[in-house]
Amino acid sequence: MQALDLHSRIDALSDGEVYALPRSFTFELGNLLFERAVSDHLVVKIPSRVSRDRHSCGGWRDYLRHIRDGVTDPGWERKPDDDECWARRDRLFDRYSALKKLCADHQEETVHFLAIHKLHHDRLSRVIRVPKTRFVIGSRPIWFGLYRTKWPVIIQQRVPGVPLWEMIDQKTGAGGLKSEWERYREPIRQHLRILLHSQVDADWSPENFVFDSETQTLYYVDVKCGAMMPAASNSHNFPLIKQDFGLGDS
Ligand SMILES: Nc1ncnc2c1ncn2[C@@H]1O[C@H](COP(=O)(O)OP(=O)(O)OP(=O)(O)O)[C@@H](O)[C@H]1O
Ligand SMILES: [Mg+2]
Repeated sequence: MQALDLHSRIDALSDGEVYALPRSFTFELGNLLFERAVSDHLVVKIPSRVSRDRHSCGGWRDYLRHIRDGVTDPGWERKPDDDECWARRDRLFDRYSALKKLCADHQEETVHFLAIHKLHHDRLSRVIRVPKTRFVIGSRPIWFGLYRTKWPVIIQQRVPGVPLWEMIDQKTGAGGLKSEWERYREPIRQHLRILLHSQVDADWSPENFVFDSETQTLYYVDVKCGAMMPAASNSHNFPLIKQDFGLGDS
């Protein structure tokens, strides 16, 4: 098992490997579904096991309930599609041979979690820039190093830039961009329009898009797959981003 450290780079990592995650990686809960640790060149994301509000589940339990067990409830954007559904997992594993080989030593659920997120990454990467990403298993010490746990882990290249959220002028309450970002509205709008018209699922929170003004690149950094998007997120966020970046206009 290879160990990651604070200076590891994405190009040295491969899908389907098992990596030891060092203690120096401090994981923090994101919105709800993932916990995140940031190093010099990487952002490491694992499904959350706890949640801030005790009424909702962590990302791992949500995966088991909504995807593996196929339980439907109104909290989700949509059901798993044909490629994501648990019953057809073998077909998806056949598509990703580097992940399939993990089935020999790891729970199928862990491998399936990685596979549906890789599928989502592949769909997105056809329509918007996404950070280079690896789908792996991470091993972490617990109980003072006496035991180790294993988790599906999504590792992204840490990309430069500013989240769209920080470009929005929160002061007026009327939305709009801060004046220093106004000149980037049109290039950002062009990228967002392609995603909007692509039919690929996205969580339209302005925190999920990071804009690098040096290269005028808009990255979509959120990793959660289409079938794991909470419905409330887009009903709240899409109207905001649509207004701030003029997505209603052609
Ligand atoms: N690959 C990345 N490179 C640079 N910054 C990132 C990257 N991934 C995440 N971030 C930063 O972290 C913030 C939140 O990221 P992300 O959308 O992955 O988590 P989250 O939405 O809070 O978690 P959840 O998946 O639980 O909803 C982004 O706004 C961005 O500032
Ligand atoms: Mg997010």
